[in-house]
Formats: sequence, structure tokens, C-alpha cells
Amino acid sequence: MSGKRKIVITAALPYANGPVHIGHLVEHCMVDFWARFQRMRGHDCYYICADDTHGTPVMVNARKQGVTPEQLVETARVEHVRDLNGFEIVYDNYGSTNSPSNKRISDRIFTALKEKGHIETKTLQQAYCEFDKMFLPDRFVKGTCPRCGAPDQYGDGCENCSAVYATEELKNPRCVLCGNPPVQKASENVFVKLNDFKSFLKEWVPEHTGPEIAKKLNEWLKDDLQSWCISRDKPYFGFEIPGYPDKYFYVWFDAPIGYLASLDDYARARGKTFEDYWNSHEIFHCIGKDIIYHHSLFWPAMLKAAGLNTPTQVMVHGMLQVNGAKMSKSRGTNISAGTYLKHLDPNYLRYYLACKMSSSIDDFDLNFEDFVSRVNSDLIGKITNVASRGAQMLQKLGGKMGELSEEGRTLVTQAQDLSEQIATHYEERDFAKAIIAIRGIADEANKYFDKHEPWKLVKTDAAATIEILTGILNLFRIMTVYLKPVLPGYAAKVERLFQEDPYTWTSAQQILEFHEISPYEHLAKRVEMAQVQSMLEEAKALAAASMEKTAPSGEAALNLAPTIGIEDFQKIDLRVVKIIDAKHVEGAGKLLQLTLDLGGGVTRNVFSGIKSTYKPEELVGKLTVMVANLAPRKMKFGVSEGMVLASGDGDKLALLFPDKNAVPGQRIS
Ligand code: 2FM
Ligand code: ZN
Repeated sequence: MSGKRKIVITAALPYANGPVHIGHLVEHCMVDFWARFQRMRGHDCYYICADDTHGTPVMVNARKQGVTPEQLVETARVEHVRDLNGFEIVYDNYGSTNSPSNKRISDRIFTALKEKGHIETKTLQQAYCEFDKMFLPDRFVKGTCPRCGAPDQYGDGCENCSAVYATEELKNPRCVLCGNPPVQKASENVFVKLNDFKSFLKEWVPEHTGPEIAKKLNEWLKDDLQSWCISRDKPYFGFEIPGYPDKYFYVWFDAPIGYLASLDDYARARGKTFEDYWNSHEIFHCIGKDIIYHHSLFWPAMLKAAGLNTPTQVMVHGMLQVNGAKMSKSRGTNISAGTYLKHLDPNYLRYYLACKMSSSIDDFDLNFEDFVSRVNSDLIGKITNVASRGAQMLQKLGGKMGELSEEGRTLVTQAQDLSEQIATHYEERDFAKAIIAIRGIADEANKYFDKHEPWKLVKTDAAATIEILTGILNLFRIMTVYLKPVLPGYAAKVERLFQEDPYTWTSAQQILEFHEISPYEHLAKRVEMAQVQSMLEEAKALAAASMEKTAPSGEAALNLAPTIGIEDFQKIDLRVVKIIDAKHVEGAGKLLQLTLDLGGGVTRNVFSGIKSTYKPEELVGKLTVMVANLAPRKMKFGVSEGMVLASGDGDKLALLFPDKNAVPGQRIS
């Protein structure tokens, strides 16, 4: 091993606007495994994180809850840290982007960009709600998809047909807060001229990101880079931009600066500043593949402009799926860390995630059947059981290990020889490969145990039994050293069992002989599918309750069409008509053909999609209402000369029937 490394590693900053969920845990565990591994190898490794606190959603949510945004983000931070620590994820510092240090460093980076001529201003037209008196981010506008017509889609894209579009393209757009249609309003915005950094980024990207990512980014870097808008108008929860009154830094500007700010808080508590660490350490950012651009284009450009070191490597992982699908509230698979902890041991998830994790950016699946089987058959069945049986048997024989047999020594040496190979897997974040190698040792230990049948041998030969158990326990101890980055709490119990100091990576090279052990302390127990089920049920119930809370009510839920004047309404000629004939239309699945009497001997032929609601014979003789001045439309089965009014959409349409006093031909006004 070369000299002592000095490393800072970060996980992406969770938004303060919701709880930590299992998607976050993937990344935060991944960094925790890696950081713990580095420390076990004797390196300095600081795990830095923070909450990402700014933006419109936090501001709006705080208003709804009747608290200040500052109160909301502080409560969220406390809950996030509690839940993340609940999974034995330990940070050297967990800060907040709403901190004095973040304000100071954000101002400094902005000023550097400005002084070097990388800032420009431009006027943009954006969706604005005149009722709420604010500009609306994409997610605060909903309407009908301009491509497929699906209702209730966000301003930035359609979940039904996956189309991506600009908010102003939405049909019938509504402000999600009040239900009113937004207007387009002009405002001056502040931009970073990203194209100034193009040649720097072209060189930087391949050296500091993985090959798959570099390929993707290179596509972008072929063309000129568009300037990046970093301002938002007031009201906004964030930092005001120096020199631009009422303009605030967009949340994504100060979010990555939160890495520096959190590090600065850590450093200042030790009489230093973030630069003492940032500019002299290897810097790793671990992120999901959804936020590559922010970390591999915007962020290095910002750092470069400020004369700060750029990251050593941006480590990118795939996204978590649950039971083969994207996490979903309605399926109850958007499981919060808090809900998980009420039902299941965090070590199960840590172990399972390690079994699945690699350095690839492919998505990976948390399948709960696989989860139960891996925990029970591997962690409990293969790894823990052999130790628990061995240690308890040894206790009964006096609690002191003996000498290794030749066979035992060979197995132990083989396990020790895996040290560097497993270390390489950890270093390269191929945790799955590390676990496979460790399970291989467990297989050998179990074979050794079964072959010598110490539970029988103990009846006739205590010394020979102790020899076997010494082999078993040494193998288990070595496995535990290798597993410690993933299962630190479990490893701490094993350290107590063997009455040893905390393990480092080299502890695997020691052999214990004639060594006293403590009474066996329970290490882990089987997981039952019923526990998983009750967790999923709770997650589903919580999601349903929160969707009910956030579902629009009143005007917003009605999704009313834009207001019109009486003169518009008067353009529509609505008349009472009598249905004098109704028939099926050959070959038309939904239509009935109606003959309508408008009075005065005038009739109209109208096709209407009401076949699944009415039988033709039950309509004949009834009064209804039609739009009499609708331009005739040529349809496949003939010309439709108007439209009858019906409520509902889809299968169950209900015709309007006027009061019996109505007379065909009467105008409706
Ligand atoms: O995507 C997210 O959830 C962001 N809150 C991540 C921010 S990472 C960093 F830039 F702060
Ligand atoms: Zn509004």
C-alpha cells in the first residue's frame, strides 16, 4: 500500500422538503461503505454531507404548515440525520445549505464568476401566477399534455407519453396552488456563460468521470453550451444575489456549494477553513445518474472560476428500483427510512445493498423476495450461524480457543490471502464482488464444520473439537474484518466476542490461538416476509394519507376552464330538442345516431358517443339539449349536424334532460 491518502467524499444532498427514503439510502450507504473501508486501510477519509434546503417547494410547504422555511428545514435536518444515523451511516459533518458559510461561499463564487466576465443577464418570459404573486417553477404548473392530451401533467413533461416540453406549451395550464391559469411575465434573469468553460470541460470530463458518463457528456460538449440560468425572482427561499436586489440564487447554484460549506463548518470547528481540506485532499462526489450535468459541467466550471480545486472523480451510480419498477407512492414502494426502521433491521438493507452494488451506472433492483432470501440464507445461514454454533460450543468447553490444525491453518491462510483482492473490490466500489468473495470463505467454513461434525466429536474428544472450533472462529473473524465496512455494528459485537480492539484491514492477517472469547452475544436474526409486508403496508398507508393531504381541493381540483365573458357564451346556440329517432351505427363501437327535432319541422342528424350508456329505444321521445350552431362535421358514418350535451368522459356519459315544461326549439340562456 502506498502512503496515507487524504480524502473527502460526499453524497448528494437530500432535499429538505421530504423524508429520506430508500433511494437516498443506496447512495448514502455506498459512501459509508467506501469511507469506512478507507479508514480501515489507515487513510484519512471525511464523509461530508448536508441538507439541500432552498427553493420554491420548501417555501410553499412551510407556508402550508404555518412555519417559517428556516424552521421547516431545521426540523427536516434533524429528522434526516436521525434516520440516516439509524442505518449506521456516519458523517464527519452534516450541514445545511441554509447556513452562513454557504451564503459566504456562494457570494464568493458568484463574485469570481462575475469578475471574470462569466455572468450575463437576459430577459425571460416565464409562467407567473397573478393570484399567488409568484413565478411558477415547472412543477407548479399542471395542464393537458400538448402531445398526447393526457390531463393533469406537469409543466416540464408528460408522465403518460414521456414527452418533454416547455411550460407554455401545456394546454389549459393551471397554477397547482390556486387553480388559476398562469400568465407569461417577463423578468430579468442572471446566467452563467457556460460556453466560456467549454474547452476546459472537454478536457476535464473524461479525466474525472467514468467512461459511460464521459461519452454521454461529450455528446453535449460537441455543441455550444447554453448559458445556465442561476437566478429566481422573489418570493423565493434562498440567498439574495449580491448586486441584484430581489433576485435569488437558484437552488442548484448553492446546492453543490453546500459541500464546501459543510466542509467549512467541519474545518472551522478545528481552527481551519474548507480550503485547507478541499485543496489538499482527493475529492469524490457520489451521485445518481440523474444529476450528472450539475456535477460534471456546472460544478467544475464554478470551482474553476473561483480558483478552487475541481473534484478528483464524480462517482455515478444507477437508480434504485423496487420489485422491478420505479419507486411509487401508490404501490407503497416509496419507503421512507423511518418506516423501514420500524419494521426491519438496518443491517439487512446494508448487506443486501452491498450484494447488489457495483461501479456500473445500471439501475438495480431491490426485490423483497430476493432480499429475504439473501439475508436468511447468506447473512444468517452461511455467515452468522457457523459462528454462533461455534462460539456457543466453545463456551461450553471453557471459552478458550486452542491451536489450529493443519487443515484449519490452510483455510485461514487462504482467507487471509484474499485481503488485497477484496480491498480492490471495495476500492473500486464493486461491493457485490467483495461480498461474493466473503461468502466464498463462509462456504469453506461451513464445509469444514460439516465435515468434522464437532457437535458429535464433542462427545468423545474435547481437544479435537476445540481445534475445529478454533479454525471456524478464525475464519469467521476474518470474514467479519472484511465485512466491517458494510456491517460495522455487527463487527463491533464480534470485536467484543473476541475481546479485541476495533478491527482495521490488517486485523485479518492475525491468527487467534489460545485466546479467550466472551459469552456469545446475539448477532443477527432471520427476517420474515411478514415484516416486509407490514412495512410495505405502512408505506402505502402513509403515501395515501399524504396524497390526500396534497391533492388539490376547491377551485384547483375543479380544473375550471379560463373565464369567458357573456358575449362569448352567447355565441353558443343551445336548444331544447326532442329525440325522435335513435339507432345503432353499423361498425361504430360507441356511437348512436340521433334524429333531433328542433321544432318548426326542422330536424338534425347527430352522432353521439353514448352507446354504452343508453339503449336507442329508451331515448326516443325524450327531450335533451344540443349545440345547434356547431359547424357540421364529416364523420366516417355521415355528417354530424351539431352536438348533444352530456356530462362525464369515457364510458359513462349522461345526457342532459331538461324539465318537462321545456319545448323543442326553445333557446337556453
Ligand atoms: O437531486 C437532489 O436530490 C439534490 N438535492 C441533490 C443536490 S446534490 C448537490 F449538488 F448539492
Ligand atoms: Zn396560483
